Amino acid sequence: MDKKFKRTLVTTALPYANGPVHIGHLAGVYVPADIYTRYLRLKGEDVIMVGGSDEHGVPITIKAKKEGVTPQDIVDRYHTIIKDSMEELGISFDVYSRTTSKIHSETASEFFRHLYDKGEFVEKTSMQLYDEQANQFLADRYVTGECPHCHFDHAYGDQCEKCGTSLNATDLINPKSEITGSTPVLRETKHWYLPLDKWEPALSKWILEGHKEWKTNVYGQCKSWIDLGLQPRAVSRDLDWGVPVPVEGAEGKVLYVWFDAPIGYISNTKELLPDSWEKYWKDPESRVINFIGKDNIVFHCIVFPAMLMAYGDNYQLPDNVPANEFLNLDGDKIST
Ligand code: 2FM
Ligand code: ZN
Repeated sequence: MDKKFKRTLVTTALPYANGPVHIGHLAGVYVPADIYTRYLRLKGEDVIMVGGSDEHGVPITIKAKKEGVTPQDIVDRYHTIIKDSMEELGISFDVYSRTTSKIHSETASEFFRHLYDKGEFVEKTSMQLYDEQANQFLADRYVTGECPHCHFDHAYGDQCEKCGTSLNATDLINPKSEITGSTPVLRETKHWYLPLDKWEPALSKWILEGHKEWKTNVYGQCKSWIDLGLQPRAVSRDLDWGVPVPVEGAEGKVLYVWFDAPIGYISNTKELLPDSWEKYWKDPESRVINFIGKDNIVFHCIVFPAMLMAYGDNYQLPDNVPANEFLNLDGDKIST
């Protein structure tokens, strides 16, 4: 029999504040979440729907550089556009916030520090690509080059958009800096890693045994990640835009955007309900449902749950993670 829950927290993937919200996001995430939330409200259930803009990460800094403005200017512009669109479309958020808010950076910072103090991270020094003309490390999309798997010539440092493979920037063949166009060199740097391998047995039990009812695309992707074997993942970056790593000696380093963004769901809830947010996250009689796009499955089903398990303190794992495929028009991805 289905478990009965006293209350529901609906979260919606935080859209990057580097462009307007598009129809694919609306059809895949916000409209389904809105319909579901309105349905529960009509039934008289205790439900809240939270969301906000994802305002960190490299693409925002690249856009700012191209336009000769600051990253803050970019996110201020697009957060307003996105928020207005959501309102005009009638998406009934209980709170729509942003990851540059004070409450978010405090929450994300405390989350990192708690894991750090518990010894949940592995510290590793590695060689990363560095642009000697711009005097900076080239995190993620700051570097492009040839994909070592499908040989597409414009793969990004974090992913090849042609074959979908997740990459490390140092895997790219003939890497090139997106800032100056120069060929980067290798330089040593220290980062913090979340050892996903440690959480693999728990994740496998929770998803593969415990959530066979999840959508087949979600379950299948989780299974293939787990079958391949989970590896430690870096949760910090050498960048000057983001939540600073709250550790002595970490100057010039920020939390990786995919570490701080899902914590946005927690800070959004705190912003809405400063005195009672915890019951939506920590009471086993509450359920959390994450509405997301299919690109976000690994972060919501593997990485964020591992972060929550590492944190402890009764944080509940999501009960379901409905992820939608891309919206197609005439056989092509509409967002492109
Ligand atoms: O893919 C994206 O658009 C991300 N900004 C989604 C983040 S979802 C959550 F983790 F915040
Ligand atoms: Zn590729």
